Amino acid sequence: AKLLVLHGPNLNLLGTREPDIYGRTTLEQINRDLTALAQEFGVEIDCYQSNHEGFLIDRLQAARGNTDGVIFNPGGYTHTSVALRDCIAAISIPTIEVHLSNVHAREEFRHRSMLAPVCMGQISGLGAIGYTLAFHALLEDLAKRGL
Ligand code: DQA
Repeated sequence: AKLLVLHGPNLNLLGTREPDIYGRTTLEQINRDLTALAQEFGVEIDCYQSNHEGFLIDRLQAARGNTDGVIFNPGGYTHTSVALRDCIAAISIPTIEVHLSNVHAREEFRHRSMLAPVCMGQISGLGAIGYTLAFHALLEDLAKRGL
């Protein structure tokens, strides 16, 4: 089985970016932990970060037919991107939306996710462990699909 981890805009700054909101864990640490976890469970995993909506769309499209699940923190695009929502709907790969912060406890404009309706589920407000939880949820889903 193969999983894709995608991190959207500004998440390359994790560790130093508003640490009171996003914590001090760096993106490299998050990816390292996920890679170790995947190894442990014999799952292939690819991790990417981009500040560009088009790159994220290209990466998702390229996953079609060769990837069994997606862990996606779309950053600010969560609240704006019709194009990313259409893409997730188009590729029909189970996708879990992850946010480090609790978007529902923050500004009004973060309460709405354009992507959540086409995702398997959303994890928000649990910090970096949210990615680990998403990984386990996808493993469960893979098992259900016999993968
Ligand atoms: C975020 C929440 C978004 O609202 C914000 O734009 C981000 C990070 C999170 O992980 O908490 O860039 O996705």
